[in-house]
Amino acid sequence: MTASRDIACRVRGFGAYTPVDVLTNFDLEKIVETTDEWITTRTGIKQRHRLAEGQNASDAAAEAARLALADAGMEPGEITHVINATCTPDYLCPNTACLIEAKLGIVGAMAFDFNAACSGYVYGLSMARAIVAAQPEARVLLTATEALTRRLNWADRSTCVLFGDGAGASVITADGEGALLEDVRCASDGNLGGLLTIGGGTSTPYAKGDPIGDDFFVQMNGRDVFKHAVRNMAAISQEVLERNGLTTDDVALLIPHQANLRIIEAVGDRLGIPTERVFVNLHEFGNTSAASVPLAIADARAKGVLRPGMRVLLATFGGGFTWGAALLHF
Ligand SMILES: CC(C)(COP(=O)(O)OP(=O)(O)OC[C@H]1O[C@@H](n2cnc3c(N)ncnc32)[C@H](O)[C@@H]1OP(=O)(O)O)[C@@H](O)C(=O)NCCC(=O)NCCS
Repeated sequence: MTASRDIACRVRGFGAYTPVDVLTNFDLEKIVETTDEWITTRTGIKQRHRLAEGQNASDAAAEAARLALADAGMEPGEITHVINATCTPDYLCPNTACLIEAKLGIVGAMAFDFNAACSGYVYGLSMARAIVAAQPEARVLLTATEALTRRLNWADRSTCVLFGDGAGASVITADGEGALLEDVRCASDGNLGGLLTIGGGTSTPYAKGDPIGDDFFVQMNGRDVFKHAVRNMAAISQEVLERNGLTTDDVALLIPHQANLRIIEAVGDRLGIPTERVFVNLHEFGNTSAASVPLAIADARAKGVLRPGMRVLLATFGGGFTWGAALLHF
């Protein structure tokens, strides 16, 4: 047990943004050999949002951040740290957090990106808690933003139908009103990283004029990822509940990473949480990676599914592999 578990950590504001442009399964039928029926039955996804030309992950994050700040009743100038989860940054350098900071008119905050793929938001909660534990006056803006559609191979039907763009944001402080972060636990296994990759990093020594290879885009062994996702999301959720002396009866709502409806149902089954207490919105947004959990939180609040007084269990899994779970008491 770390000392920071004894420090209060409040998630005070939530915001989310998805681009206007929507790609339905029927639109995808015109791009690759697929059907709405296949995508719906295998994944539950009906549509996903796509960033407009010239609109980037940092723009989506700034929109979500403005809403989160308004929700927290705070001004951008009060923020001391901008920590941004993404596996689809605008650039390798500068980091996307600095770009978000500039778009919000913040100068002087500590700003950095981190990549935990789809687990980014839960990893970010863990980091934000550590920051406010070390520095109780800190005002942390956590953003999670993805431009996945920019890194999809539109000729690979096994991956291009799964992902969408979007962003979510939260403001985290040691004090004040807001959801209490009761616990968070993050884990990883780098031995399995090759099962889900997005290239374009420096391990591929591209020279000017070289054609872009398939490695530049999302590549995935879907079946293996599926198995590990179910096993690890369920196990880490159970672990977090047990170490807090709780059972799933104490959880009002499970908000899982929105990758695939069958993964979500299998996790719910393993944990013994009935479907009416499991929040699902992937039919509207697809898998938005790091943005999926904060997008789901904001959506669940807007739809009145997530209400004050509820204890919420977050569960995530992503490339790396990374996974995590958190308990938020609203
Ligand atoms: C990707 C996924 C939906 C594929 O479902 P699946 O039931 O495992 O399907 P398979 O990969 O075994 O493919 C079955 C068949 O469907 C075909 N297929 C794949 N994508 C298709 C598509 N979009 N449309 C139509 N057919 C498709 C395959 O080519 C294969 O055909 P074949 O039997 O003739 O070779 C599933 O594995 C999955 O969701 N995995 C987890 C992925 C994920 O969420 N990752 C992110 C986690 S953070």
